[in-house]
Amino acid sequence: MNIGIIVFSHTNNTFSVANKLKEVFYNTAHTATVERITTASRNPTVEPDIKLKDIPDVSNYDALIFASPVWAFSLCPVMKKYLNGLASLNGKKVALFVTQQLRFSWMGGNRAIKQMIKICQSKGANIANTGIVNWSSKNKEEQIHNLLECFKKI
Ligand SMILES: Cc1cc2nc3c(=O)[nH]c(=O)nc-3n(C[C@H](O)[C@H](O)[C@H](O)COP(=O)(O)O)c2cc1C
Repeated sequence: MNIGIIVFSHTNNTFSVANKLKEVFYNTAHTATVERITTASRNPTVEPDIKLKDIPDVSNYDALIFASPVWAFSLCPVMKKYLNGLASLNGKKVALFVTQQLRFSWMGGNRAIKQMIKICQSKGANIANTGIVNWSSKNKEEQIHNLLECFKKI
């Protein structure tokens, strides 16, 4: 399977997990590629109307993993804009994960995942897996390990 790991990451936490995920697929029957969504502005956190610069094309991937940070107890608006702009995810297997600073997933992570599921399902995706990494949790490394184990079954 040709797997696209599509990530937006402002401070590289989410990107670091995406790269670990890519390594999980080394020496398997799958090919995994990490592609970054970028914005025209260098600081999208203060941008009221976010403009995307690099907009990865998903059409050639059989399965997709979308990864984003949580902003303001919600899905980061950059990922929201990107997902909303996708033409179709019809019939594609999709897994989703977010990273957040706070220790508890009810502090934005759960909501962000729900938002991602809703958009992806509206584009025809089959949701295979979801995950949350709480960056300040003492269990962070275990959470990442579990996410990798779970997502490699995509
Ligand atoms: C504008 C902004 C808002 C944020 N809001 C939240 C939040 O509501 N809850 C939370 O747990 N972390 C929040 N964070 C922290 C990020 O979710 C966390 O640091 C994440 O791992 C960053 O991922 P990145 O390095 O891939 O950008 C926020 C960060 C920024 C920049």
